[in-house]
Amino acid sequence: MGRRRSLGSRLLAGLALVSMSICLVLLHQLSHQEARAVIGAGGAGGGGNEAIERRERHSHRYLLMAGGGSIPGGAVGAAEPPKSHVTKTAAGTADDHGDGREQNHNNNNQSQLMPILDRRLPRLLIIGVRKGGTRALLEMLNLHPNIAMVPVEVHFFDKFDNYQRGLDWYRSQMPLSTDAQLTVEKSPSYYVTPEVPERVYAMNPHVQLVLIVRDPVTRLLSDFAQIEASRATQNLPNRRFQDVALLPNGEVNTQNRALHVSLYAKFLSRWLHVFPRRQLHIVDGDRLIHDPYPELQKVERFLGLDHLIRRDQFYFNATKGFYCLMGVPSPTANLVTNINDDNFTSSSSSSSSASVDDHANYYPHHYHHKCLAGSKGRRHPQVPDEVISVLRQFFAPHNRKFFAMVGQDFHWPEQ
Ligand code: A3P
Repeated sequence: MGRRRSLGSRLLAGLALVSMSICLVLLHQLSHQEARAVIGAGGAGGGGNEAIERRERHSHRYLLMAGGGSIPGGAVGAAEPPKSHVTKTAAGTADDHGDGREQNHNNNNQSQLMPILDRRLPRLLIIGVRKGGTRALLEMLNLHPNIAMVPVEVHFFDKFDNYQRGLDWYRSQMPLSTDAQLTVEKSPSYYVTPEVPERVYAMNPHVQLVLIVRDPVTRLLSDFAQIEASRATQNLPNRRFQDVALLPNGEVNTQNRALHVSLYAKFLSRWLHVFPRRQLHIVDGDRLIHDPYPELQKVERFLGLDHLIRRDQFYFNATKGFYCLMGVPSPTANLVTNINDDNFTSSSSSSSSASVDDHANYYPHHYHHKCLAGSKGRRHPQVPDEVISVLRQFFAPHNRKFFAMVGQDFHWPEQ
């Protein structure tokens, strides 16, 4: 009798164990599907099933939110989700991507899954070059759902006072982003500041770098136009370009600071001393002006991102004389927007601009468009051909050195 009872209770215990295991497997599968559903509904900027798959592949880190509410922080200037609501990550470690961020790993059984919003150190830096098209590149890249841009130039690595504030301060300047997004910051003076490569390496030796360059003479003209515009605001007299770029004897004024910025090879060697070439991608700024889409595809490839930026997101604005952007994440839809800096003019679909209205016919749903502000695309000074020729000849050997270093020929004129 006693033996039969113990046999029966063992059988019962075995059955209970088997059914518990089945329950656990079902629960696991359910929570996986739920994660997909929530990411799909709440991901940054859409992107369709392909994007969802991508985020899953890249991330596998979802957040169990207590209370089932939506995350505060999508709107302009809103607060981060309170850390007490961050209850569990399904997998992964805090520094999977080398960005040194901290995560809360408490357990909690509440079951609304949301992507983790946090401020993350950049995994991509646009390091320069000044007047190369850095703002246009950043804003164009930000069309990608897996990119979270820092809207302002932080100047963390080049300004000693900022660098002294430490990485926590730098991180606090970053936008909120999901784990599947790559934070990108641009400060063009990083390229030319001697200390910067080592400092960037110290933050993250695996960080990806993008440099955008254009014909050095055109860049110099652009720089000059900017400097003169700034002088005008201080009531300083106008100067002629040739009086600044050349000496009275007609030779190139090698003491001119702006001219030095166009000596790309000189600064590149410092970067390549610290980072392997494969971590640096070079964008052709002249091509970005005339046909941005192929240049952006190359950056997507370099970053290992799916090609989610579309050609139809760029339209040529005849008034501006440059490409403008369509389908820019709206301030409410974008998890990371918090500053409307003066580098852009933007508008929603209610704009009355003719060329934009044309596009509204093709985009009947809600959209936003952006053109760069007037400080981008300034009129360059009229300069005699001989002056241009002297400068081109001066830059030619430096350019060739640069092409050899990067393994890419930009075909800038030499005469
Ligand atoms: P110009 O003002 O000389 O034309 P940066 O953002 O690094 O300061 O570079 C400014 C340059 O970006 C501008 O120089 C302009 O030529 C270039 N640019 C590239 N794409 C642009 C765009 N879509 N709209 C406006 N400017 C653009």
